[in-house]
Amino acid sequence: MQDQRSPFQRLADILDGITPSNEATHAPINLTIGEPQHAFPAFIPEVIADHADAFRRYPAIQGTDDFRASVCDWLKARYGLDEAGFSEKNVLPLNGSREGLFHAIVGARDWARDHFGKTLDKPAILLPNPFFHTYIAAARAIDAEPVFLNGSPDSNYLPDLDALALDTELLDRTIAFFYASPANPQGSVAGKEIWQKLIALGRKHNFLVLADECYSEIYRDTPPAGVLEAAEGDYSNIVTFNSLSKRSNLAGLRCGFAAGDGAFLTQWTKYRNMAAPQVPMPLQAAAAAAFRDEAHVEENRRLYNAKFDAVRRILGNDLTYEIPPAGFFLWLDVSAFGDDASITEKLWREVGLRVVPGSFLARNDASGINPGDGFLRIAIVADLDQTEDAMHRLRHCLLG
Ligand SMILES: Cc1ncc(COP(=O)(O)O)c(C=O)c1O
Repeated sequence: MQDQRSPFQRLADILDGITPSNEATHAPINLTIGEPQHAFPAFIPEVIADHADAFRRYPAIQGTDDFRASVCDWLKARYGLDEAGFSEKNVLPLNGSREGLFHAIVGARDWARDHFGKTLDKPAILLPNPFFHTYIAAARAIDAEPVFLNGSPDSNYLPDLDALALDTELLDRTIAFFYASPANPQGSVAGKEIWQKLIALGRKHNFLVLADECYSEIYRDTPPAGVLEAAEGDYSNIVTFNSLSKRSNLAGLRCGFAAGDGAFLTQWTKYRNMAAPQVPMPLQAAAAAAFRDEAHVEENRRLYNAKFDAVRRILGNDLTYEIPPAGFFLWLDVSAFGDDASITEKLWREVGLRVVPGSFLARNDASGINPGDGFLRIAIVADLDQTEDAMHRLRHCLLG
């Protein structure tokens, strides 16, 4: 029986009750949650205030025309999408990408039944391992079988699609594949060819590709390819999920979008209209303004890059890690020092650093391997000073 607790609950269960020994002189530093701490764009409060009157009204589930136009323009510019083939009909607002990823699985089940005649008692849902915990909650909600696809160094820590392609029995009973790029926690990025392989598998075996791309704008120097770009004008069977939480440091705004297969989105909207949360209209107005501004996103990347430079400067080659091409997590291999849960406890107890054990973010695969074993996930979300402080504490605790 796999542990059903969330990674954060498991973390609390091992750390609560322990007081860091340096607490009197050093405030604890929490590097667990992927909650950006940089400033959000200064114009946001004013846009919300200007549209506050609309708080009286129930928002339509399909969002405002202005919101959808802003996302559509942003996607076209970001991924060079064909002007004619991609429109507002390919976009839906979400109350943050998390609820979209969760509710998408109900849509995927209905879609697989209505369009592909897949009426399975226990369909398979494919997910990366490690994974974002909402995927598994979604699989549980429709009593599907979650199938964990480990990343390995050979597959750039992403699910190995070549190996998967051989398992036609599994693919034929699959209704959806949650695929994250840039990946949380490793920050690996799928190139265009990988996205195209994935799209081809989805079309051959009749499952939806649910692309989780919420870290797409947090990259070091090269913008990651996106699934819509890889689709080259045919968006059937593909939905991408993104939000302003990471791009614009607006995790609390709860505003994101789903974009892709227009026919799927139309059918899914009917379900969403009964069950999913709408996005308040003043928040959609603020989100539209944020999608029309890139200056704050560039500044955001500059700040993350400066912090990753500090990580490299302070940890050097004395610990095992790679600066990820995207995302804001340091995925640190601590297997030389002990198991990841014990090292997490040691860091908290001895130097007041709170991080997440990698094994809590993954599951044992069918052969009992947990690909998060021996790793720590460290969110580089605090400011530069605190990040430097944290890296010095980490170094001191592990290397003396
Ligand atoms: C991989 C991944 N997907 C989705 C989300 C959900 O983000 P939000 O609901 O804020 O858009 C997160 C948040 O941390 C994440 O790490």
